[in-house]
Amino acid sequence: MMDKKLQNILDALDSRVDPVLLLKAVEQNSATIVITDSAGIITYVNAKFSEMTGYTKSEALGQNPRILKGDDGLTDYKEMWDTLLAGQRWRGDFHNKRKNGEFFWERAAISPILDQDGKITHFLAIKEDITERKKIEDALERSVAESVQMATTMEFLNAELKATQSQMLQREKMASIGQLAAGVAHEINNPIGFVASNLRSLDKYIKKLTGYLELSESKLKEQAPDLWQELKPERKKLKIDFLLEDCDDLVAESLDGAERVRKIVQNLKTFSRVDQAEEQLADLNECLESTIAIVWNEIKDKAQLEKNFAELPDFHCNPQELTQVFTNILINAVQAIEKDGLIKVRSWLEDDSIMISIQDNGSGIAEEHREKIFEPFFTTKPVGEGIGLGMSICYEIVKKHGGEILIASELGRGTTFTIRLPLESKGERDETTDQGDDDSGCNGHADNGRQRGVFFPEI
Ligand SMILES: Nc1ncnc2c1ncn2[C@@H]1O[C@H](COP(=O)(O)OP(=O)(O)O)[C@@H](O)[C@H]1O
Ligand SMILES: [Mg+2]
Repeated sequence: MMDKKLQNILDALDSRVDPVLLLKAVEQNSATIVITDSAGIITYVNAKFSEMTGYTKSEALGQNPRILKGDDGLTDYKEMWDTLLAGQRWRGDFHNKRKNGEFFWERAAISPILDQDGKITHFLAIKEDITERKKIEDALERSVAESVQMATTMEFLNAELKATQSQMLQREKMASIGQLAAGVAHEINNPIGFVASNLRSLDKYIKKLTGYLELSESKLKEQAPDLWQELKPERKKLKIDFLLEDCDDLVAESLDGAERVRKIVQNLKTFSRVDQAEEQLADLNECLESTIAIVWNEIKDKAQLEKNFAELPDFHCNPQELTQVFTNILINAVQAIEKDGLIKVRSWLEDDSIMISIQDNGSGIAEEHREKIFEPFFTTKPVGEGIGLGMSICYEIVKKHGGEILIASELGRGTTFTIRLPLESKGERDETTDQGDDDSGCNGHADNGRQRGVFFPEI
């Protein structure tokens, strides 16, 4: 006697469809087919199910598909039940476990089976073994991830290579500029020395000659007035009065020029590290004070100066060089101010570093110039006012002390240079040579000076 339900189904089917064929198609399907009742109890499994899971039909019937449940967390069961109970089809993957404990992957499509009233009576699961596909997918994913990783590494290496290359180029450039500067400094030093010395002698001689001339004239006027009168037109014609006066100016101007050349040579020497000096323990606030005293003449007519110094520990450094850094930055600040300016000089301690900032409310630095200001010979100033070595010297000295210079600048509003000098600096300071000139006004306590090599800034 045929089950009534089955009879109903058969009645619903097209009379041309052979129900036995239909059952065979399900039973022998290459996909796993599982039917459960609405409570999730297995009521049917096909042959493929047994092949896949290792459970015989009789072992499976009456069980919950949970018997296959492998590791948790990979399938969202809540979402699955929410979808199914809402009467919709759910698709997803299961990481299931065979009877013998082996794991396998299944891709499932589960649909609720509804009665005439739309009530869920069963669930039909059609599942496909995707273990191999998963393996391939995983391998593919891994190799894609590896390729991405490799590409990123290569990109990074490429960027590093480029940076190293440009650093090397920069170093080479700096080294040749340094050599050139040293050579020029050396060549100019000698002639400018005797030019200045000769000018000073000339000044003395002219003064003596003028004195002698004046004495001769007054004697002549007294004792031979006729002769004096006779010579008067000649004196006028030769413009002797103007000549004597102008001689003084010419010599003074030439001495001034020679002094400027001497300063440039000094800068070039510092830049190329020709000088030698010793490292010392120094109070940087004192260095700042003496720097301010040195440049006070330049500051006083153009700007007010505000100082705010915190107490600082003695710093192992080359104070002469640091004085030069402060001088250069202060002079730049003054030069950036037209009038009624304000310069703030501060010092403080931060994270085991001495911090010094010099702030001005001058012209500011244009964006396109900001990167260039540490380049030797970069200047925006007119000929005679700047040669563009100041900041490159600062950079080099601060770098040698293991520190850095930070710039904050706004066009038309001003610039702040902040120097960070780590109290315990490594690397650069231990390898490079310590040098500088000896006209610093700040106190230092002599320490064992160490020889350092030539260093050029990387920009
Ligand atoms: N405080 C500042 N305000 C505005 N510009 C500055 C300041 N300091 C440096 N600069 C810019 O950096 C350039 C380079 O400075 P520096 O190396 O000292 O050379 P120089 O002073 O001889 O021009 C200057 O020409 C100027 O354009
Ligand atoms: Mg300068």
